[in-house]
Amino acid sequence: MKILFFGDIMGKPGRSAVAKILPGLKKELQPDIVIANIENLAHGKGVTLSTIQNLVDGGVDFFTSGNHIYDKPEYKKVLEQFGGKIIRPANFAPDLAGDGYKIVEVGDDSILLVNLLGEVFMSEQVDQGPLTSPFYKINEILEKVGHDPKIKILDFHAEATSEKRAMGFWLDGRMSAVVGTHAHVPTADAQILPGGTGYITDIGMTGGAHSVIGVTTKSALARFQMHDLEQKKVALEIPDDDGRYEVSYVLLEIDEATGKCQNITSRAIPIYDINNQN
Ligand SMILES: [Fe+2]
Ligand SMILES: [Fe+2]
Repeated sequence: MKILFFGDIMGKPGRSAVAKILPGLKKELQPDIVIANIENLAHGKGVTLSTIQNLVDGGVDFFTSGNHIYDKPEYKKVLEQFGGKIIRPANFAPDLAGDGYKIVEVGDDSILLVNLLGEVFMSEQVDQGPLTSPFYKINEILEKVGHDPKIKILDFHAEATSEKRAMGFWLDGRMSAVVGTHAHVPTADAQILPGGTGYITDIGMTGGAHSVIGVTTKSALARFQMHDLEQKKVALEIPDDDGRYEVSYVLLEIDEATGKCQNITSRAIPIYDINNQN
C-alpha cells in the first residue's frame, strides 16, 4: 500500500500547488491513496466548502486537520458534506463536531487514520479547551479498533519536536506510521523505527515559496517587531499565487500483510517554480 501524504496546505498557493503537481506525482509514485492536512486550507485558517472541493477535484482522497479546523464558520457544513473523508483531532472534547479517527477502504484493504494534537506549547494555539493526553487517547483508540485494519496511520499535529519523537516511539510496532504536521517546516528525519513504524517529525507545508511558514515575510516581520501583547493585532497575509511554491510530502509504503512500514521517503522542495519545470 502506497500512501502519499501532504502536510499542512497553506491557502491559495498551497491549493494551486497541489492541483498542478498532483497529476504528475500520481503518475510517478502510483499512490493508492492521497491524504492532506487541511487545517490551513482557507486563507491560512480553517476550511470552507469550496476550498476542500478544490482538493477533491485535484485528486486528494482524505483529509486530516489540526488546531485551526473550526476557524471558519462553514466548518459544520464541511464536516457534514465531506464527513466520510475528514478527521479532526481525536483528543478534543468528544462533544465537538467531527470524528477523530476513521477506517477508510482503499481497494481491497482498509486503513485506520487517526488525528491527534500535541500538548506541549499548544495551549495558546488551541481554543477548544483542555485536550485529553494524546498518549492515552491513542491507546484508547487502538484498543477499541483492535487488530484490524493492520494498516494504521497517525497524523500527530504538534509543536514540540520532542513530543513528536516520543509519540513515534510510543507507537513503534503498534501503528504503521506516525507523521508530524503543524510546524510547517520539514524535518530530515524520515525513518523506520525499530518496531517497523514509519516516522517523520514534520512533513512540512505546501504553500507560497519565500514565505514564513506560508504567510508573507512582510506580515510575519511586522508581527515579530510588535510587543508580545500587540502581536495578534497584526494580520498575517497569504502570499499571492505567483507560480512559485514550497512543496512537502512523504510517500509511505506499507506491507498489507503485516502493517509494517517498508519505506518512508520525504520530499521537501523549498522553491518549486511551476513555470520553470522541464
Ligand atoms: Fe498548520
Ligand atoms: Fe496547526
